Amino acid sequence: MTILDKAVAALPAKGYLDMEIPKGMNLIEEINKMRKEKNAIILAHYYQTGDIQDIADFLGDSLQLARAAEKTEADMIVFCGVHFMAETAKILNPAKKVVLPDLLAGCSLADSASGEGIREMKKKYPNAIVVSYINCDSSVKAESDIIVTSSNAEHIINSLPKEQEIIFAPDKNLGRYINQVTDRNMILWDGACIVHEAFSLERIAQQMLDHPKAKLIAHPEAQKPVLQVAHYIGSTANLLNYVVNDESQEFIVATEEGILHEMRKRAPNKALIPALTTDDTCNCSECHFMKLNTMEKLYLCMKYELPEILMDEEIRIKALRPINKMLELSQAIK
Ligand code: 13P
Ligand code: SF4
Repeated sequence: MTILDKAVAALPAKGYLDMEIPKGMNLIEEINKMRKEKNAIILAHYYQTGDIQDIADFLGDSLQLARAAEKTEADMIVFCGVHFMAETAKILNPAKKVVLPDLLAGCSLADSASGEGIREMKKKYPNAIVVSYINCDSSVKAESDIIVTSSNAEHIINSLPKEQEIIFAPDKNLGRYINQVTDRNMILWDGACIVHEAFSLERIAQQMLDHPKAKLIAHPEAQKPVLQVAHYIGSTANLLNYVVNDESQEFIVATEEGILHEMRKRAPNKALIPALTTDDTCNCSECHFMKLNTMEKLYLCMKYELPEILMDEEIRIKALRPINKMLELSQAIK
């Protein structure tokens, strides 16, 4: 039985998601009440829906959320993000209850790699250390030497000796980009983010022609051709800071569209144009995993304290080591 099966089996027989929410209930009020009564903290990633971002105690990118999870004194962490993020919070907080509104909120990158696969790769490259992007499950973290996020990957790789052989998993696009900016030749795992891989260079080029003053900004999970024409490349938090601080008034944004919510709040006078994807039936670039969490599920999750993230203690201890290494090596990163 996997950890996911165990967690699903622990749900109320009928399935908590089928529980009725009384008509007319003010979800915001109820969530606020429970947050106090249960000494809970709501952590949300920038890719969550706007209503969830607005009700969160803390909103951030992967690195900021890992740090917030490490610091919190709440009894219960309600993680509005995807499974690997909530799992990271649990790895850092074994004694706390960590819940995720929808347990099926996964990630194509995390799904692309397994601890067993990393062990096989290590046999092939016995002198290599394993640096893994935080977008991976605990079995991969447990086989890794250092975890990185898109905010600190360049800084951490630069801190390692130039001659050190490195396996980088699981995002080949971020890995290729970090190879380029750090002048390395890391061995790359073949994984990708389905959202960032969907951006269409052809359609973005047309957007750039239509908006000649706009700057293209992109997340390093996007593919090389998009990154090659970008004016700025950065993690979610860095893209946000760039929009706020750069003098340009127009931006074509090549990352998950949830970040536009906070960008609009922090830079209300700037024009933000979501970059187009290859899917011309929908101009959106939404991560459907992230959007599985809703206000209704957040309410139910806080009420029933389910679904809970449960972990094998042996794996947790092994996975904690490379996360702590990341936190230690990236203290200089804001
Ligand atoms: P960051 O939050 O590190 O920018 O990562 C983006 C992402 O895809 C999260 O799933
Ligand atoms: Fe995973 Fe991509 Fe969704 Fe982030 S946006 S959770 S990397 S699938």
